[in-house]
Amino acid sequence: MKTMIPWRGIIEEYRKFLPAGEQTPIVSLQEGNTPLLPAPRLAETVCPGRELFLKIEGANPTGSFKDRGMTLAVSKAMEKKAKGLMCASTGNTSASAAAYAAKAGLPAYVVVPAGKIALGKLTQALMHGARVIQIEGNFDQALTIVKSLCEETAIELVNSINPFRLEGQKTAAMEVCDQLGCAPVIHALPVGNAGNITAYWRGYREYKEAGQTQGLPRMFGFQAEGAAPLVRGHVVESPQTVASAIRIGNPASWTFALQAVEESDGCLHMVSDEEIIQAYQMVASQEGIFCEPASAASIAGIYKLHRENLLPKDGTIVCTLTGHGLKDPDTGLSVSYRPVTVPATREAVAAQLTT
Ligand code: F0G
Repeated sequence: MKTMIPWRGIIEEYRKFLPAGEQTPIVSLQEGNTPLLPAPRLAETVCPGRELFLKIEGANPTGSFKDRGMTLAVSKAMEKKAKGLMCASTGNTSASAAAYAAKAGLPAYVVVPAGKIALGKLTQALMHGARVIQIEGNFDQALTIVKSLCEETAIELVNSINPFRLEGQKTAAMEVCDQLGCAPVIHALPVGNAGNITAYWRGYREYKEAGQTQGLPRMFGFQAEGAAPLVRGHVVESPQTVASAIRIGNPASWTFALQAVEESDGCLHMVSDEEIIQAYQMVASQEGIFCEPASAASIAGIYKLHRENLLPKDGTIVCTLTGHGLKDPDTGLSVSYRPVTVPATREAVAAQLTT
């Protein structure tokens, strides 16, 4: 029999970097340990001559990177005996909060923009038993409301302004170093509320300081053109993009994200919805990885910098694919061809073959 070393989730695996003590009840779905997949075919187009890897965060238990932060935030909420969990969300945070709340046996309240979150994410929150409250407004308004409510109740806020969220999320950077044997030259991420880019930069720095890895990457953040407050330098009142996960006009971690980019000699750029959809289709059809549209902003961004001759000539590039494509079947179907329907005969099917 082959002996597998069990993966115990990010808190146990990176405990010495995390604020979890003996007394912290660990709520885990064994998140983390996601693939770092070489993507040579995609690299030929988006960054020829460089090594490209995809960090597949859609392989987490609820299908997005949010689980890394949620395990710690919910464990700490249990430690302080919170009565429930609450978040505002563009979808993934609500799915993750709902799942970890179910595991912990806590009620979860999730506040989302009505009609603006992807079908899979809404289904997840409902299935895990969260109370889903849809507002006639956007994510930024939802966040203002939940912040205010959590100040007055024993309900724990589990958005990324909860410090434990970013602490958990930083383990993704540590994993990349463990998988590559060193830090990449460039790490590219989609940016919405700007928590994840902040968390990765912290993870890389702490791992290097602890002597666990060498070098530091340049952090490249990409926003959608219609929701690019960090790039434009001002709040966007009504953000618009096909990438619903990053439809955010006033990011909570604004300052930290700018700091990560500046300290790492990185950059922030924006990509159009067309560029996002093109990258979304390329990664699915050339690498066999179905990510959600927001995730593809990292690839679209690298491709854009390559076309504009702004990409360094060599070095390893890692793009984080933040969420699974199955979360948003509507967008996938809307950009795909319609399958044909033929009579149930051998001839009719054979007539469809192109090879
Ligand atoms: N990619 C996906 C799939 C996301 O769900 C998010 C954020 C991001 C990227 C951006 O990460 O906010 O840390 O800069 N989703 C949040 C949510 C806002 O509510 O699920 P960020």
